[in-house]
Amino acid sequence: MIPTLTWTPEGVRFLDQTKLPLEENYRLAATYEDVAEIIVTMVVRGAPAIGVSAAYGVALGALKTSATSVAGFAPEFDRICARLAGTRPTAVNLFWAIDRMKALFAELRQSGATLVDVQEKLLAEAHLMYDEDIAACKAMGAFGGELLPADGGVLTHCNAGALATCGYGTALGVIRAAVEQGKRVHVYADETRPFLQGARLTAWELMADGIPTTVICDNMAASLMRQGKIQAVVVGADRIAANGDVANKIGTYNVAILAREHGIPFYVAAPWSTIDLATPTGEAIPIEERPAREVTHHAGKQLTPHGVGIYNPAFDVTPSRYVAAIITERGVLRAPYADSLREMELVAK
Ligand code: MRU
Repeated sequence: MIPTLTWTPEGVRFLDQTKLPLEENYRLAATYEDVAEIIVTMVVRGAPAIGVSAAYGVALGALKTSATSVAGFAPEFDRICARLAGTRPTAVNLFWAIDRMKALFAELRQSGATLVDVQEKLLAEAHLMYDEDIAACKAMGAFGGELLPADGGVLTHCNAGALATCGYGTALGVIRAAVEQGKRVHVYADETRPFLQGARLTAWELMADGIPTTVICDNMAASLMRQGKIQAVVVGADRIAANGDVANKIGTYNVAILAREHGIPFYVAAPWSTIDLATPTGEAIPIEERPAREVTHHAGKQLTPHGVGIYNPAFDVTPSRYVAAIITERGVLRAPYADSLREMELVAK
């Protein structure tokens, strides 16, 4: 198992994703502020991993408080949640996880729990989210693996793998499950400029599993599709709106259009915590803009002329009409997504 994030008695230990694949370093977050900084700087990234990290951040904040009562801790709890919620705006899993911690805290406060009780229960909730995330990935894999070809090329964009979750992955979980089902899958990993999650992270984790993988530059996908090398596309998501529009890593929309043009199914794999029924369409999804330096520099070396204009949106929105299916731990959803998402939510309740 890839140790994306691990709870230790000293805090949360993160595999530093900014250093992969050449160095396998770890960073310890001993405070909630450390967790926030680690999310902002993308030491940990990927929607489900960000959510669970934030939950551990809230638990860490509670464990490290100097308050002596639950009432005394309450204003600090709000500050901790606000700080963690301010790290990255697009992945709805972040807000889902923090809201879940808030709801638990309110319930415990109401029931007259002691501070020690609150600390223990918040940590237990973070552990539960961690375990649930891995179970969701495995369930998604079982459903989604069935959709992939028995033999063929599968394109993925960014990293929606073990490194983006607590383990196994969403899109890469589907690929892993297909391989476990005996399918002969060859993965084409878009390099995913500017942060290179595909070239660095997807390639690293699939190679560790011995899954045949070829890295391509982002501008090569159309050509490969035309050559018949790609039989399916599977990607993750940072937020799925109520109508099925999908926010994911910048460049995902390009891939979806190309897949449509070439008659290739475009699948999205995501846990239910990525589905945001309160956001009606993709237009209302906030898109994070990252620092210009991610585009202007690589490995400390400047690539662009001084002073040139830079635009660095981290995500784009793929309209639901391009999505062949949404693979979740609850099952495979098909269009019209406004109906299938709502129905699945009602069934689960
Ligand atoms: O900016 P990142 O690396 O956090 O973006 C990650 C993605 O876009 C992933 O595809 C998405 O979070 C799904 S991860 C299972």
